[in-house]
Amino acid sequence: MGASAVADVADVAERFREQYGAEPEGVWAAPGRVNLIGEHTDYNDGFVMPFALPHTTIAAVSRRTDGVLRLHSADVEGGAVELTLDSLAPESDRHWTAYPAGVVWALREVGHTAITGADVHLASTVPTGAGLSSSAALEVVVALALNDLYELGLRGWQLARLCQRAENVYVGAPTGIMDQTASACCEAGHALFLDTRDLSQRQIPFDLAAEGMRLLVVDTRVKHAHSDGEYGKRRAGCEKGAALLGVDALRDVPYDGLDAALARLGDEEEVRRLVRHIVTENERVERVVSLLQAGDTRAIGPVLVEGHASLRDDFRISCPELDLVVDTALGAGAVGARMTGGGFGGSAIVLIEAADEETVTKAVEEAFATAGFTAPRVFAAVPAAGARRLM
Ligand code: GLA
Repeated sequence: MGASAVADVADVAERFREQYGAEPEGVWAAPGRVNLIGEHTDYNDGFVMPFALPHTTIAAVSRRTDGVLRLHSADVEGGAVELTLDSLAPESDRHWTAYPAGVVWALREVGHTAITGADVHLASTVPTGAGLSSSAALEVVVALALNDLYELGLRGWQLARLCQRAENVYVGAPTGIMDQTASACCEAGHALFLDTRDLSQRQIPFDLAAEGMRLLVVDTRVKHAHSDGEYGKRRAGCEKGAALLGVDALRDVPYDGLDAALARLGDEEEVRRLVRHIVTENERVERVVSLLQAGDTRAIGPVLVEGHASLRDDFRISCPELDLVVDTALGAGAVGARMTGGGFGGSAIVLIEAADEETVTKAVEEAFATAGFTAPRVFAAVPAAGARRLM
C-alpha cells in the first residue's frame, strides 16, 4: 500500500474543477488511524493511544452563499449529491453523505450559522470497513476545511468533539471520541496519549524505525459495522457497570480497586467481564506510555498481547480472523500483536523486528489461505501527521 497511501493533491483539485467548473478555495487532508492500545476505553472516560496513518481523506472545498451543500466523492459512482442546509436532520441519511453533512449540521447547530453552503469533492485512500477510521477522516477533513474557510477559530479537539456529535447524533453511531481526535490532533512520529475525560493530550515519540522495529497493520477484510448493535451493547453494559458501582464512568474504578469492584458486582457476570477489561485496559495504556518514555519499546509487545486476550475473552469482540492474525504472528516471532479498533473484524496490529517482516507477513497470509479466509491486506504503518491544509 506504500505509495498509494497518499492521494495526489493536484488530481483532487482537478477533479473538483471538472465537477464544479471552478477552482477550489483550498484542499485539506485528514488521516485514518490505528490504535496502539486503549480499546473501548474512550466512552468510559479512559485512556487511548492512537496514531495517524499515512492514508488520508482529501477534500477540495469552496464556500457557497445560497444554503446549498454539494458533495461529490471520487470513490463513489455517480454525480454530486445536493442538499440544502435547512433540510439537514439527524438520522435522515443512510449513505456516505451523512458523515460530511452531519459535520455541517453539527457546526451550525452549535451556532456557526455563518456557514452558508459548500461545494466539496473528496478522495480517500483510507480503507473502508477496516477499522481504520475512514469515517472520522471524512468528518474531520470537512470540519477542518469549513473551520478555515469560514474562519471559525476552532481548535483540533473542538473539531473532534463536533465530528463525534455528527457521528453520534446525525449518523446515529454511538462511538467515542478517539477516532476524530486522532485524525485531528496526531503528529508525525508520535502516538497520541489522550485522556478522553478532558481531552488532555501528550504526544509520545514512537519511532520504530530507529529501534529496528516495524508495526504491521493486517486488515482481515472482515467488514466491521458499529451500527449493528454489538458496539452499543458493550457501551450500555459499561454504563450499567458504572451505575452499579456508583461512579460517573468506569475510568473512576482504580486498578488497585478492581477486585473490590468485581466483588461488589456479585453475579452480574457479563458486566464484571466488561468492567475488568476497561479497568485493566486503562492500566495497560499507562504502562505502554511509561515503557515508551523509558525507551523500552520491545517491552510493550506483551502488553499488546494481554490487551488482545482481554478483548477476546472479557470484552468478547474479537473474531476467528483477528485471533488467527495474533496467534500466527506471535508464533512466527512477532514481539506483540492485538486486534485494533471497534472489533468484530477490521484490523490487527503486529509489532515486529524489522528483519522479520517477510516471515511474519508470509506466515499470516499462509494461515489465512489454509483456513479458507479471504486474503488479508498487510502494510507497515509509520505514525503520520494529523489533519492539515494542503493547498
Ligand atoms: C471505534 C469507535 C471508537 C472506539 C473504538 C474502540 O473505533 O469509533 O470511538 O470506541 O471503536 O476503542
